[in-house]
Amino acid sequence: VLAIWNQLTKSQVPELSKCSVLMRDRSSVEETIHAMQRAGAGSLQVISDFDMTLTKFAHEGKRVPTTHNILDNRLLISEDGTKKMRELLNTYYPIEIDPSRSIEEKLPLMVEWWTKVHQMLIQERIRKDLLAQAVKESKAMLRDGYKAFFDHLEEQQIPLLIFSAGVGDILEEVIQQNQVFHPNVHIISNYMDFDQTGALQAFQGQLIHTFNKREGALSRAATLRELQGRPNVLLLGDSLGDLTMADGVPEQEHILTIGFLNDQVEERKESYINSFDIVLVKDETLDVPNAILRYIT
Ligand code: TMP
Ligand code: MG
Repeated sequence: VLAIWNQLTKSQVPELSKCSVLMRDRSSVEETIHAMQRAGAGSLQVISDFDMTLTKFAHEGKRVPTTHNILDNRLLISEDGTKKMRELLNTYYPIEIDPSRSIEEKLPLMVEWWTKVHQMLIQERIRKDLLAQAVKESKAMLRDGYKAFFDHLEEQQIPLLIFSAGVGDILEEVIQQNQVFHPNVHIISNYMDFDQTGALQAFQGQLIHTFNKREGALSRAATLRELQGRPNVLLLGDSLGDLTMADGVPEQEHILTIGFLNDQVEERKESYINSFDIVLVKDETLDVPNAILRYIT
């Protein structure tokens, strides 16, 4: 029976045969996809990271900005702010993706990175009314196939939870400007808090960084009414920390995790294959998630 199923998946999700696709256990992926297909759209939710998962990592050889890096615009921050932000990125990003350090070791350093950047942004008193313009001027870019992804989920009334350690206000603006901020989209992220004059004075709520998404999943995602009664999860991320985004889903049945391996490919390949069900190597598209969604629902 399994052999027939395998054939079925091969013909119905041919994207899984792309050479950028790596799987630790192909037959278990196929079984999960079939189980999700049998359960249907009504049992499914999609939980996705934002930066470098729904957005591209690079385009035409240049890095695409994350939501934080979109703020690196003279409209919003001074030259000193820019300098500070880039220094911090150069210090902490290599730590974030360093395969030789444990998550426990990275945790306090990520808190340090986010805290320093947020303090700088508050000092700069970023203006709310200029955010949309900064996003327009930026090279922010969603992955190819994003429209099919967002539109299909809306059509099938499948909730999409975007769970981001980036900046929520910017993330919203990016999907808004790409016309895919549909009513089935829910967001958990770091949101800015503005004073009465429209200047940034703080960030709201508990800080979310790359490696504490589990806490947010338990305290916040678990309480979202729209996600209730949907035990099957398609999870998309680009960091090992993203794997905990579904930890708040009660009575989980089937989960399929897809990891984008964008950077430090050789060094991180093994850990990604061991951690995600499907690994997409230097794939700037949403073709594989789209093909799976189209088959399941
Ligand atoms: P994500 O959870 O949506 O992927 O957002 C987190 C990413 O943002 C993470 O990979 C690191 C990145 N980041 C920057 O690019 N610049 C910054 O200043 C900070 C604090 C994070
Ligand atoms: Mg990310």
